[in-house]
Amino acid sequence: MKYIALASLVVLYSLMFIGGYVSAAGLGLSCPDWPLCPNGIMPDQEYLIEWTHRFIAATTGVLIVSTAVGVWINKQSDRKIKVTGTLAAIFVVTQVTLGALVIDLKLHAVLVAIHLGIGILLFAMTLLTVLFAFRLDKTTIQTRT
Ligand code: HEM
Repeated sequence: MKYIALASLVVLYSLMFIGGYVSAAGLGLSCPDWPLCPNGIMPDQEYLIEWTHRFIAATTGVLIVSTAVGVWINKQSDRKIKVTGTLAAIFVVTQVTLGALVIDLKLHAVLVAIHLGIGILLFAMTLLTVLFAFRLDKTTIQTRT
């Protein structure tokens, strides 16, 4: 579970980086449909950056929700990691839904600001989950010896 959590953090960081580029380059509405771009599931040069943002968002979602499931089925998980892992899962679902609204409402400034704000909260929760997961593992080893 700790390695899925770590992978989520790395993929999430790349996603935020690409999101910043989408915003700064004015590419937010380059793919006007939701959830797929007009040419379907495959990327097209015209929509590539926006498509990459959505594709990595979907991957991040799967990784973060898998981490939360892993946290809940791991008997050694304490309350702190359950809280951060669950909040990260809630934030990632909210963030993807919000992404759809950002497109639907044509990049409304308030929604873009909330999209950034929730992205930061999501990063914080994922980082804490990674830290707790690695510490949990260390504590288990120390208890065993
Ligand atoms: C885990 C999911 C996601 C995260 C963490 C994330 C994060 C970000 C970040 C950090 C930005 C830059 C914001 C800024 O500089 O103000 C951004 C921009 C953007 N995101 Fe996402 N995003 C996610 C999912 C999505 C999804 C599913 C969509 C749906 C299409 C989406 C659509 C957009 C758009 C259109 C922009 C550019 C807004 C603009 O032009 O100002 N995002 N995202």
